[in-house]
Amino acid sequence: MNDQPGNFNIDIADVARDEGMGARAYTDPVIFDLEMERIFRRAWIFVGHESQVRKPGDFCRTRMGVDEVLLVRQQDGSLRVLSNACTHRGTRLCAGSSGSAISFVCPYHAWAFGLDGKLKFVPDVQSYPASFTISDPSLGLKSAPRVESYRGFVFASLAPDGPALTDFLGPMTDAIDNLVDRAPGGEIEIAGGSFRVRYPGNWKLHHENANDTVHPSFVHESSVSTANKSKVDPDPRLIDRGQTKGMMASNGLTPKDWNAIELNGMAQGHSFMGGFYKAGLLSRQTEDEVMRTYREALEATHGVQKAADILGMDRFNNLVWPTLNVNAQFHQIRVVHPVSVNETILEGYCFRLAGAPDEIFHRAVRFLGALVSPASMIFSDDLEIFGRVQRGLESGVLPRLDSRRGIEKDAPAGEDCSYRSTTSSELPIRSQLRAWREWMIAQ
Ligand code: FES
Ligand SMILES: [Fe+2]
Repeated sequence: MNDQPGNFNIDIADVARDEGMGARAYTDPVIFDLEMERIFRRAWIFVGHESQVRKPGDFCRTRMGVDEVLLVRQQDGSLRVLSNACTHRGTRLCAGSSGSAISFVCPYHAWAFGLDGKLKFVPDVQSYPASFTISDPSLGLKSAPRVESYRGFVFASLAPDGPALTDFLGPMTDAIDNLVDRAPGGEIEIAGGSFRVRYPGNWKLHHENANDTVHPSFVHESSVSTANKSKVDPDPRLIDRGQTKGMMASNGLTPKDWNAIELNGMAQGHSFMGGFYKAGLLSRQTEDEVMRTYREALEATHGVQKAADILGMDRFNNLVWPTLNVNAQFHQIRVVHPVSVNETILEGYCFRLAGAPDEIFHRAVRFLGALVSPASMIFSDDLEIFGRVQRGLESGVLPRLDSRRGIEKDAPAGEDCSYRSTTSSELPIRSQLRAWREWMIAQ
């Protein structure tokens, strides 16, 4: 958690022009370092869900950009985000992804830190000079100055000041609300572990792709055509019941259908796209015993009209810039972790909805597996493309990417959404670019 902004001499406004980002934003390690300082050590970064750290001492390990951190439930029930680097010689404290602890003991020389990050014990402390005192706050683990939860979604900022979390999230609180409201019991929990992939490309490529409605017909053509050629009718006795086949086929909409999907982009860099999975076991069109039971449970909680409104919110990727992707309709999230200028980790998690039939969770897990697992026949296409984009940009032949598609039709859409488009558009990319420019220029 280095909080000293570096001394960079780059014309950010010129790198990030509305018509397209300069290629060096994806390839230059100096720009990557600047992103870590000005975006990842200042903005609100998603660090986990409260269900991952229910009890005092529960922790999970995650990243805020290149800074590895621990989200820790405190004795008083509050949350802290601590640096995962020992203050003696910098050793990584916790190697496990999650657990429960009463203290964090460094594996190197056994300095021990409390759940609040304060240094509690140093072996052989009598060997240190008199000026060394364990209670010295600078010997404690660095702690994120701001940690806040919005309906269980925990965000942290390494800057002491900045916009409030709800201002930062803006209209994207709708997506989180919708996911939580889908639970008849009013609570959701991350369950079943996570999928994790690493791709050889810049972190920005993921969000730039996620709401790009032109690429699926081309990038995912092989799985679309395989699904369409398959003559096998879904066998109701099979656990998948044609869900994967239906998902693969869904990427093969006609250009007219893709263009009809609404895109929304916000000043904060967030964006969302309308839904396009019209069939499949979790879609609101599905009528079977599981969905009926689920709908009735939701109606018992919210009433018929509100339950219909909740299930009727038909969106696919809700991108909370810079790193979170909330897919409320299918009960999952994806998180982007930059590693270096040309390396990124992606994690996918599924939620169990309290009060919903177990089968609803199993369907969400299958959806996540078919979409973003390392063995996915869909996401593997995107990862291959990210690597190819990165290699192309690193070759240096292209000084600037082109993000002009639909630029003249970006229509202001009131206070909630800065822009809305109902045509094929790179509007989501332009929203991300503008937010990037703003955070990167701010001193
Ligand atoms: S590096 Fe952690 S105790 Fe020495
Ligand atoms: Fe894709």
